[in-house]
Amino acid sequence: MNATSSNPSNPKQNIDVSSPDSSTKPAASDGYKNDNKHAVDPQGQQMWGGRFSEATDSFVAAFTASVGFDQRFARHDIEGSIAHATMLGECGILSNDEVTTIIQGLQQVLREIESGEFNWSIALEDVHMNVESRLTDIVGAVGKKLHTGRSRNDQVATDIRLWLREETDNIIELLVRLQSGLLDLAEQHTDTIMPGFTHLQTAQPVSFGHHVLAWFEMLYRDTERLIDTRRRINQMPLGSAALAGTTFPIDRTITAALLGFEGICQNSLDAVSDRDFAIEFTSNASILMMHLSRMSEEIILWMSAQFNFVQIPDRFCTGSSIMPQKKNPDVPELVRGKAARVFGQLMTLLSLMKSQPLAYNKDNQEDKEPLFDCVDTLTGSLLAFADMLPNIVPNADAMRAATMKGYATATDLADYLVRRGVAFRDAHEVVGNAVALGIAEGVDLSDLSFEQLQQFSDAIGDDVFDYLTLEGSLAARDHLGGTAPNQVKQAVISGRARLKAFA
Ligand code: ARG
Repeated sequence: MNATSSNPSNPKQNIDVSSPDSSTKPAASDGYKNDNKHAVDPQGQQMWGGRFSEATDSFVAAFTASVGFDQRFARHDIEGSIAHATMLGECGILSNDEVTTIIQGLQQVLREIESGEFNWSIALEDVHMNVESRLTDIVGAVGKKLHTGRSRNDQVATDIRLWLREETDNIIELLVRLQSGLLDLAEQHTDTIMPGFTHLQTAQPVSFGHHVLAWFEMLYRDTERLIDTRRRINQMPLGSAALAGTTFPIDRTITAALLGFEGICQNSLDAVSDRDFAIEFTSNASILMMHLSRMSEEIILWMSAQFNFVQIPDRFCTGSSIMPQKKNPDVPELVRGKAARVFGQLMTLLSLMKSQPLAYNKDNQEDKEPLFDCVDTLTGSLLAFADMLPNIVPNADAMRAATMKGYATATDLADYLVRRGVAFRDAHEVVGNAVALGIAEGVDLSDLSFEQLQQFSDAIGDDVFDYLTLEGSLAARDHLGGTAPNQVKQAVISGRARLKAFA
C-alpha cells in the first residue's frame, strides 16, 4: 500500500502561542479567567487590533484559533493568494512590481512551510493570517496590499474547495484502481460457482465473478456521484470578499481561470456562507463507506471456518496473542467500523449548517476537522481495499459444496416444469415436495432418482438432470445482467469500457 498525497497525521509543527503560558490547549484550570494575565498584545501579532482597547485573553485566542488544523490548507491558500495578486495586477489595482514582489514572497513562505521551518502562531489565528504576516516580514509593507479586495471569508471558502477538489481527484483515482482490480478478478471467476443468497439463505447458484461485479456496480455509482459533486465543489467563491463583494474593479474570470475553477459562485452572500458542497461530498463518502462495510461484512463471513469461501492475503490480517490458530480479518472489520465515523461526520456538518443565517458565521470554522477526518478515513479505507479486494482468493471447492447443500437449483426445476406446461404455482408445489424428499434423504435434488422425481409430476422427463446441475443453472440465466458465464464475460468487457469514462 502506497501512501498518497493526503497526510492523515497532519503535523502541527512550531506552534507559537505568543503568551507567557505556552499551553496551546485551553487549560481547564485557567479557563475563562478574564484577568488579561495571558493577554495577546493587540498591537503585536494580531492583524485586526485597530479598534480594540483590550487585548484578547490567551485562552480565547487559543480557543478561537484554527491554525492547529487549517495549516493543512497552506499550499492552496498560497496558490489562491498568487492568483488573487496576479488578478489585482492585471486589473491595475496593484503595480506589476508590487505583484512580482508579493508572488516571490509567497513562494518563499511556501518553501518555509514545506521544509518545516515555518513558525505557526496561535495569535495569528489561522493559516490565512499566518501566511500574510510572514509575507509582510519577508517583503515589507507591500505585503499588506495582498488582502486588497478580498476577505478571509472568501479566502477560506476558496481554500476548502481547492483542497477538496484535489482530495476528490485522489479518491476517484483510488476508486478506479479498485474497480479495475475487481474486473480482473471477476474475469478469472466467470465459472467459479457459489451460492447466491437472499436472507443469507442459499437461494440460487451464481458465479463468484458475478458477485464481484455487483461490488463493481456499487463502486461505479459511488464514483459517478463524486464526479458529479466535483462540479459543484469546483466553483470559485473568491471575489465575494466579506459578504457583499468589493469596491475594487476586480475581474473574477481571471482568478477562476488561474485556479482551474470551472465556474464562479454567482452570489457573494451564498459563496462565503454555504458549505453544501462539503456536505454533499461527505454524503457521497457515507454511501461509499456503507458499500465498503457491506463488502467487508461478506469477506468477514466468508473467511469464517463455517463458510470457508475465501482467503485474503496475510498482510490484511492479524493473529491472536492467545489463540495460535486465529487469522483475523482486521482490515475489513476496521473498515466496517470506520463507516460509522464517516456517517457521524455527515451528521456533524449537517448540524453545523442547520439554521445558520447568511452570511459567514464563525461556526463555519468547525467545518474543517469533520471534513478532514472524512477524507482521511475514506482515503485510508480505499487504499486498503484497492490492494485487498482484487487479491481475494476464492475456495472453489467449498463454494461448490455449499451450493450443492442448499437446493439452489430448485427454481430451475420449477422453471423446467413451467416450460413443459405446468402453471408456476403448481410447479412451485411440486418442487417443494421434491425438496422435502431430498431433505428427508439427506441428498441434493440432482441426487434423487428419475423415478423419485417423477412421482411428483408426470411433466418431469429424463432430461431433467441437465437442468439440475449447477452449470446448467448458471448457463440458463443468459441475458444482460444475468449470471451465465458468457454474460459475465461480456459485463467485464463493458465494465472496462465504462471505466474509461473516468480516466
Ligand atoms: N479561520 C476562519 C475559518 O476557518 C477563517 C475565516 C474567518 N473570518 C472571520 N471573519 N473571522 O472559517
